[in-house]
Amino acid sequence: MTALQSTDAHREFSYSRSDFERVKSLLVKHAGINLADSKDAMVYSRLARRLRVLEIHSFTEYLAYVGSCKDEMEHFINALTTNLTAFFREPHHFDALANYLVKRPQTKRIWCAASSTGEEPYSIAMTVASVFGSFTPNVQIIATDIDSKVLQKGREGVYALSSISQLSNDHKTQFFYKGKGAQTGKVKVVDELRKMVQFDLLNLTSPNWCVDAPLDVIFCRNVMIYFDRPTQRKILARMVNLLCSDGMYVAGHSENFTMYPELVAPMGKTIYRPVN
Ligand SMILES: C[S@@+](CC[C@H](N)C(=O)[O-])C[C@H]1O[C@@H](n2cnc3c(N)ncnc32)[C@H](O)[C@@H]1O
Repeated sequence: MTALQSTDAHREFSYSRSDFERVKSLLVKHAGINLADSKDAMVYSRLARRLRVLEIHSFTEYLAYVGSCKDEMEHFINALTTNLTAFFREPHHFDALANYLVKRPQTKRIWCAASSTGEEPYSIAMTVASVFGSFTPNVQIIATDIDSKVLQKGREGVYALSSISQLSNDHKTQFFYKGKGAQTGKVKVVDELRKMVQFDLLNLTSPNWCVDAPLDVIFCRNVMIYFDRPTQRKILARMVNLLCSDGMYVAGHSENFTMYPELVAPMGKTIYRPVN
């Protein structure tokens, strides 16, 4: 077994190349996520916390445990997902959503398919609430992710004050409570907006999706990049199938699906419509 780096001697837990390969294969099998070979140190530092908690002394032992314990698989996946997100990330998508809602006020269901900690579905909810001038429009917003920890954070709706610094003053006052006392430096999404978003666990690579069709809009941003090409196409095809014929599919800034003209046609920067 080859050691991963010369720093191995200083590591708290033994961690070999074959341990890293096992992590990669478990992650691809259970989440579809392809890890680059350069991520070996990241894997060590993120999973070392689990070994400490469980008082397990080697990665080989830990990985045997993950393979046999469903609950630990959840921690394993939570530890290895990348959850970077922000309110109104890629802002042109929210302008496009607002335009879409104005043209299609009959919109009923929006799915945010890799919602991470909630900033994205709450940005969708703020857009919906602003367009309809109501916290109770007839629009269901479903936010899903494979990571149970980020979903919990989304449900709580508590964020650093700095995370809303780019928002307009109107948005800040209308959609957030400002923390006081022990909560200074934090904001909380107002209850009315929180109630507009439903958070659920959903693995995009699983055959069972707990999402009702038809959907009007799907936001699936910055997650397909972790999947291989055949998986991307399969997921895109399933999603397109759930969209209504004048629906809208919103992709991440580095996700391009023009190679699938049989599934989608571009209708803006990283925005597609289904081809039925
Ligand atoms: C980089 S974040 C993107 C968050 C948000 N969509 C955005 O663009 O700001 C990627 C998210 O995809 C989720 N994810 C990774 N694999 C997934 C899978 N197989 N099914 C569902 N979500 C997954 C991760 O947990 C993470 O929260």
